[in-house]
Amino acid sequence: MKIAVVGSVNLDIVASVDRLPVAGETVSGHSLAHHPGGKGANQALAARRLGAEVQLIARVGSDAAAKDALALLRADGVDLSRCLPVAGMPTGVALIGVSADGENQIIVVPGANAELKPEDVTGIEADALIVQLEVPVETVAAAVAGFKGLVVVNLAPAQSVPDALIARADLIVVNKTEAAFFAGRLEQHPTAEIVVTLGGEGARLARGGAVLASAAPPNVEVVDTTGAGDTFVAALTVACLEGRQAAARLAFACAAGALATTRPGAQPSFPSRAEVNAILGSAR
Ligand code: RIB
Repeated sequence: MKIAVVGSVNLDIVASVDRLPVAGETVSGHSLAHHPGGKGANQALAARRLGAEVQLIARVGSDAAAKDALALLRADGVDLSRCLPVAGMPTGVALIGVSADGENQIIVVPGANAELKPEDVTGIEADALIVQLEVPVETVAAAVAGFKGLVVVNLAPAQSVPDALIARADLIVVNKTEAAFFAGRLEQHPTAEIVVTLGGEGARLARGGAVLASAAPPNVEVVDTTGAGDTFVAALTVACLEGRQAAARLAFACAAGALATTRPGAQPSFPSRAEVNAILGSAR
């Protein structure tokens, strides 16, 4: 099973706080950590940990942060041959606050991610292509337009996208906030499966406005929700390629996403297939 991911690479700078600040407020943090992140890189690594062969098509900076941002992808054997440095640009950075109950607040400074161009995403060969919206939308649209296999579109972070991008998607994944942003537009798609993630309540899958399946996550102790949505997207794609039925696909993705909340950071928290199987088995 081969999955290509077109998307962002960030270095996440994470402050742990008791509670997240409101606008204009300063709060004190307990600790500061650096983790590899970025929605594209996260989804690539999560799919790899679940057993897929994965290629990431992305851009990093020509700085020291690039090595740290790619470290776990490299260690786990993600194909980075199309993940190239951009001279004179910094690697993308995400400033993240994580509260005691695991919720987060994120500011992304794209850096080199903004330099991924439509001409960089031609000739992609894989069983599935996963895209998100942390690289230029015209690049995302070009990638899906030229791709022949299963197209998975994670409309995150929510922003204006061309109709053609939504029309080409076979599977669209959004959280509740993103679903509200795209209100009405997704339901009009006649054939795509639309999956809405509902945090601790799991996820729902619909097609043509009719709900086909829903699933709840296993009970876990939440430490940090960063990257849980990315793990969900990757796991759902893997389960689709394995030909699982709608309810089983959602259950697999919910279990993988839940496990990703039990450890700090995005990429360090992503589960192996054995861990997902174990928690699914124990939930029966
Ligand atoms: O989805 C989580 C990711 O969003 C973080 O890793 C951060 O880099 C931001 O892109």
